[in-house]
Parts: sequence; C-alpha cells; structure tokens
Amino acid sequence: GQQRKTYRIGFSQCTGADEWRRYMLNEMNRELTFHPNYTLLYQDAGNSTDRQISQIHSLVDEGIDLLIVSPNETSTSITQAVESVFKKGIPVVVIDRKIETESYNAYIGADNVEIGRMAGAYIGNLLNGKGRIVEVWGLPGSSPAQERHRGLREALTRYPQVQISKELNGQWEKDTARRVAAAHLSDLKAADLVFTHNDVMGLGVYEVSKAAGLDKQLRFVGIDALPGPNAGMQFINEGILTASFLYPTGGQEAIETAVRILEGKSVKRDNMLNSIQVDASNIRALKAQTDKLLAQQYDIEKQSRRIDELTRTYSTQRNTLYLTLGS
Ligand code: FRU
Repeated sequence: GQQRKTYRIGFSQCTGADEWRRYMLNEMNRELTFHPNYTLLYQDAGNSTDRQISQIHSLVDEGIDLLIVSPNETSTSITQAVESVFKKGIPVVVIDRKIETESYNAYIGADNVEIGRMAGAYIGNLLNGKGRIVEVWGLPGSSPAQERHRGLREALTRYPQVQISKELNGQWEKDTARRVAAAHLSDLKAADLVFTHNDVMGLGVYEVSKAAGLDKQLRFVGIDALPGPNAGMQFINEGILTASFLYPTGGQEAIETAVRILEGKSVKRDNMLNSIQVDASNIRALKAQTDKLLAQQYDIEKQSRRIDELTRTYSTQRNTLYLTLGS
C-alpha cells in the first residue's frame, strides 16, 4: 500500500513533575496510538520560563509540523516565542495555560473563571455565608491562577461576610504550599477554610495544619479532582478535601485537534472543557467509575504491548523463513 505521510508534533510542557501533567501526557500518548504516522517530541521545562523558551526554539529546529504548548506563565517572552513559531507557518495548539496573543490555531482548556466562581459559590454556601478564607495561589503569572482568583472574588461578592483574610503563593506546588503554610500558621489559625488553586497544594497545607493541630477547625477546597492514586479524588474520598472541581487535562483533545489541523480539517479556535463539582455527594460514584476506567486502560496498554511483542516475534520468524527458503 501507499506510505502515509508522517508528522512530528512538538509538545512544550511547562512542567512534567506532577500527577496532573503525567495524566495529560498519558492521554496524549493513548490518543497517538490511533495515529501511528504521528510522533511526539516532548520537552519538559521544569517550571522554568527561560528553559521553555529555548525548548520551543529547539523543537522548531528539529523540524516539527505543529507545536502544542502549555506555557509556564503568560509572560511577554513566552508569548513572543510562540508568536515566532506561528509566524513561521507552524500551527500552534495552546493547552491549559494561556498566552497574550492571537497567534495560535486552537486553545484547549476548561473555563478557569467559571471554576473559580463555582468554588466561590460552594464555599459561601459551605460557610453559611460567614467566615475567613486563606487563598493559596498557583503561579501568579499563569492564567489559571489569575482566572481562578477572579472567579472566586466574583462569586464571593454575593457573600459579603465571607472574606479572603490572607493570600499566599504556593506556585502550584505541594512543597511550596507546605513552606508558606508553615510560615503563616497564625493566618491559618484565624481562618475557617483554605482554598487552594489546585488539590496538591491543598494536601500540602492540610499536612502542615494537621501537624499544628488545626486540621479539625479548617476545611479544604481545591481544584483538579484528578482520578487515581495520590490525587484529588482520593483526597476527597479520604476526607482531606471537602470539595474539588474537575479540571480536565485536555490531553486527548489536544492530539485530536493537532491531527485535524495537520490533515487540513477545520478546528474550533476555543475549545472549552467542562468542569463539575466533586464532594461527598458524588465522590463514591465518580471514584468507582474512574478507578474502573483506569484499570481498563491499564489492561488495554498491557494487551497492546503483548500484541507488539507477538508482531515482533512473527516478523523475525517470517524473516527466518524467507532466509531458509531463499538459501
Ligand atoms: C499542574 C497544575 C494543575 C493545575 C494546572 C494549572 O501542573 O498545577 O494542578 O490545575 O497546572 O495550570
């Protein structure tokens, strides 16, 4: 048969060192198994904006056909790097965090302002309209942190007696959140609830609060509600978090969109993924479903590795056969 054209997709990831980003990459790789003529060139910037910029340039030097980028920050320098790729005629798909330019073909992510609003309304209700919140930010230069904060504040205007008594910067990381929480125990002591821009920071602040004997007085609300071990759904199930809001990674959609673009099909420019509230009212059902899904995915991956092995064995046997017949 005719050889299919092959494509190289570059993926510049702001950091790869957390469960949510690993989940995103898994989704991408799973979707790519349906498209054997595509390869993924993956670069992890390890939370460094400068490194991400140089990695974007080196991906272009390697000759990618399309760039998927999840920018570390909404900074001018990253924005310029992405613009330069787009201006070369290389299509760009932005995922999760945003940049300040129109130079991209598609954006994939959930509506973070809306998620912030959902969290604010939930918290206002949970506190019966009165109380003090410690808000732990993700990286302040990244769009999800800015948008989650904005949504939270908007929703809280309906609860005038609920106030954000302290804002801390946890930079999206559990360890950083632990450190700032430990340095602000008096603020935690004076609060009723801790709202963290993601679930892993919630776990970090919870651990510090527990060690200081404050965990019974505080409630914790986060964002991501990622399934699987060491992630949000589990934290809710264990009663560490009271609630979280699903933040889908969009990994599968990013590859689907990239493939459509490279096949010359039209794509939607803004692709908004849905969020849902996760708490005691639905965690058991959700956890059962997602655990089952993850187990099935694991089985499928195992089977496909087995098929690969068999195919390899078969082709060596066939080669041996040809050699034998030929001699
Ligand atoms: C993972 C993460 C998520 C968060 C997202 C925001 O690196 O911090 O927890 O929802 O990035 O960009």
